[in-house]
Amino acid sequence: MGCRKLNAFRTFFFFLAASICGPSVAQQNGAQLPQYDEDTHLGVSSCASSVCHGRAERSEESRVWLTEFRIWQGSDPHATAYSTLLTEQSSRIARNLGIGPAAEAQVCLNCHADNVSTDHRGERFQLSDGVGCEACHGGSEHWISSHTDSAVSHTENIQAGMYPTASPQPRAQLCLSCHSGTSKKFASHELMAGGHPQLLFENATFALYQPMHFQIDEDYEARKGEYNAADLWLNGLVEAAENKLDLAGSAVSTMSAELPDTALFHCDSCHRLTNIASGGGLPVDQRRPGGSIPINDTALALVSLVSTALELPGATALSAELDKMVLTASVEPQKLAGAASDVAASLHTVSGELVRAPLSSAQLSKLRRALIRFAAEGRARYFADAFHVFLSVNVLNETLQDGLISNKDMSLWFESVVSESTFDRAGFAARASQLSSL
Ligand code: HEC
Ligand code: HEC
Ligand code: HEC
Ligand code: HEC
Repeated sequence: MGCRKLNAFRTFFFFLAASICGPSVAQQNGAQLPQYDEDTHLGVSSCASSVCHGRAERSEESRVWLTEFRIWQGSDPHATAYSTLLTEQSSRIARNLGIGPAAEAQVCLNCHADNVSTDHRGERFQLSDGVGCEACHGGSEHWISSHTDSAVSHTENIQAGMYPTASPQPRAQLCLSCHSGTSKKFASHELMAGGHPQLLFENATFALYQPMHFQIDEDYEARKGEYNAADLWLNGLVEAAENKLDLAGSAVSTMSAELPDTALFHCDSCHRLTNIASGGGLPVDQRRPGGSIPINDTALALVSLVSTALELPGATALSAELDKMVLTASVEPQKLAGAASDVAASLHTVSGELVRAPLSSAQLSKLRRALIRFAAEGRARYFADAFHVFLSVNVLNETLQDGLISNKDMSLWFESVVSESTFDRAGFAARASQLSSL
């Protein structure tokens, strides 16, 4: 991963479109993820016909393009997620893990296909479709015939089992379930050590990086509510924080029943040796003893930062509980689950606020300042921290469109975080200090 991935970002990270901002759509929480919904998944070919979503040209009359299948098949990486399991790289990972062929292993299929249970697969369903339409939009059994009727609203479709992909919170849950893993489908250190790329995900950025098969225009917003990139960003962070606590709380591990899995910690705390040669140089993390292994608390730390900057009730408690959890993870990792559940209580107090209302420009601008200060103080110690801080500031720049930070300054800053192997921690902080003086 690393270099390959962030280099790909280079081409598009400035283009988070300004035109797609506005207040958020209504929340529709508590939806069952498509993989576990109760409806039959009919398969991509049920959506793909040339009179449905498989047209060659965009439809003039319809509310949607009807070319979605072509876009997905032609350029969306989800369409080839299953065939990835047939590559040499996947065979090597599967050999390392001793799990037989990757394309038959549940652990791989859970994220690389629409791996619903066999009794939820319709006649035309094929695992080899990879991450198909229903892996995101939900099993279509009960809405396939009605959703084409323009008299049927989006809410009615959702009531019939369509997944609420237009709502930021369920959408973040959906993407992160595969892009970060959950306790049910766990991206373990064993999987990484077997050769799987590290999973890094930022919701608003990836939303644009996945080839868009829909257009956000007046008609879209009238049907689905307004689209707001900053809201996607914030919901992505909150969901990643919740997810982290869930994993820490279940102390899920492939190695030991007692100890949390190594993948819950910062990869580059162990896998980066250059600081031995240069005699350290890390600013000390006040929360734990020097030299201890740091839990990856990126999303939690940023949610805490955001809550403090917005002066939310519960922010102080969250920050204090998080400090305790970071210490526990380092010195008494067998007690991590308990510490995580203490953080969960504080997190819920602030997350209720954070995912609810779209934030004002003044608030977003405050958050951008707080993020840059965090970086300038050298607190983005690990690649995951820097990756998220950089992309967060980028999303906020694009949302605010105030021209305060130029593309040139962002490009220069980006150089320090372009890949994990060349991550320049000191340079990242130094660039941020220059930005913070703007
Ligand atoms: C069922 C699991 C699953 C879900 C749900 C899912 N993805 Fe993915 N996604 C994958 C897999 C697996 C890949 C890698 C495909 C490959 O290269 O084989 C991927 C790749 C991507 C990529 C390309 C990444 C790269 O480095 O090239 C983007 C962007 C992306 N997904 C965005 C999203 C977004 C946004 C959502 C939510 C709307 C989402 N994904 C939901 C499994 C999923
Ligand atoms: C928790 C979900 C998850 C699990 C489990 C998982 N993958 Fe992945 N995999 C992903 C995602 C998401 C990506 C894309 C990462 C990115 O680029 O951001 C990916 C990427 C890959 C890639 C790199 C693809 C490329 O285009 O570079 C390979 C190879 C791969 N996975 C194989 C496997 C194999 C083999 C297994 C089973 C042993 C497996 N994966 C299990 C989610 C998962
Ligand atoms: C990785 C997840 C993912 C996959 C796979 C996926 N979609 Fe989507 N789709 C989305 C998201 C996210 C949106 C935007 C939110 C929304 O409008 O609900 C969307 C929007 C749409 C829309 C709504 C356009 C509008 O104007 O209302 C249609 C139609 C659609 N998708 C069809 C498909 C079809 C057909 C496939 C399969 C060929 C597919 N999608 C595969 C995530 C996905
Ligand atoms: C607590 C320290 C620690 C952390 C944190 C850690 N690893 Fe490891 N990692 C190890 C050790 C120890 C090995 C085994 C080395 C061996 O077997 O020779 C290893 C092996 C690996 C390997 C195989 C290396 C090889 O040469 O074959 C990869 C890849 C890997 N880890 C990736 C990751 C990723 C990605 C993360 C973060 C999600 C991570 N590691 C977090 C200690 C760590």
